[in-house]
Amino acid sequence: MLRVPYVDFPAQFAEEREELMLLLEGVFSRGDFVGGAAIEALEQELSAYLGAAHVVALNSGTDALILGLRALDIGPGDEVITPPNSFVASTAAIVAVGATPVFADVREDQNIDPAAIAAAITPRTRAIMPVHLAGHPVDLPAILALAQQHGLAVIEDAAQAIGTRLDGRMAGTFGDIGCFSAHPLKNLNAAGDAGFLVTGDAALAARVRLARSHGMQDRNTVASWGTVSRLDTLQAEILRLRLRHLPSVLERRRRNAASYERLLPSAAFRPPPMPGAESSFHLFVIQVEVRDRLKAYLLEQGIETAIHYPVPIHLQPAAQALGHAKGSFPRCEAQAERILSLPIHQFLSSFQVEHVAAQIAGFLGA
Ligand SMILES: Cc1ncc(COP(=O)(O)O)c(C=O)c1O
Repeated sequence: MLRVPYVDFPAQFAEEREELMLLLEGVFSRGDFVGGAAIEALEQELSAYLGAAHVVALNSGTDALILGLRALDIGPGDEVITPPNSFVASTAAIVAVGATPVFADVREDQNIDPAAIAAAITPRTRAIMPVHLAGHPVDLPAILALAQQHGLAVIEDAAQAIGTRLDGRMAGTFGDIGCFSAHPLKNLNAAGDAGFLVTGDAALAARVRLARSHGMQDRNTVASWGTVSRLDTLQAEILRLRLRHLPSVLERRRRNAASYERLLPSAAFRPPPMPGAESSFHLFVIQVEVRDRLKAYLLEQGIETAIHYPVPIHLQPAAQALGHAKGSFPRCEAQAERILSLPIHQFLSSFQVEHVAAQIAGFLGA
């Protein structure tokens, strides 16, 4: 049986073993585990790659969201509009700063619907936090126009979207703040938790820089209350290495996506991309009525798949106090029953991609 894993860390290790060993030796021999020169080097390299004025390396995408919200002075009494079908961290970050998450339903492409955002705006709304789910860009022109009209901040959750472009510009660089994750499962991945925040605003970047390291301006001066959310030097070195590999990773993922597009039957529904969109294909999601049966069948054939995400955030036990119920966000809820993420990683062979597509076509009788 031809096995198709959903992720393949051993393949990544095999490809990078020598480079990884060299950088490991460098960090251990220097002993600059915290705050090494690699942090600033990574920030500069990311800044050049993304075309973003300021990049602040942090220890997770979740902290990028939390520290970003705090830097914008968003807190108790404020509302932030976000989709209910993200990874829980987007909503949890809003709750973590004491603000209230307000959900807006999504479009056919699983990304937040600007019309639903407009309907959710109240006098307490301070910001919009759209999520580039799967690496597909959200409708930024419509969202930025709404933000400008109502005087709202935009915090892009670009955790899944490194390398995603809209009209040639990198996702995460359109809003006031963009938040990225470099979790092991992301397209640019560390060997543990990691993330970073980007902004065009020097003052916001300075606030986040202070906050990530106890608010300490220098060894003996605490300028403001902070926390500890620094990126480890070792992770920074790994990300510098993998940033050099990222164009090839994205190319291979896009090639796999193009093959799926060509080979999959229309019964495996894929919404058309936004005009001007170049997805990073963090995920390749199909929508099918018989999702659970298809998932089980594929697993029997040795093909691993995933669901992002089976239970919308507004229906999680943690969200009970927000007062939503089944039916509150019908589009997101309907998609949660139908979505299936296919293996898309850069180590798949074209034969494996063809095999997955053929198995799906066979199962769907198409
Ligand atoms: C959409 C989204 N937002 C936020 C996060 C949080 O990032 P992290 O896991 O680096 O904290 C993730 C990923 O895990 C994510 O997929």
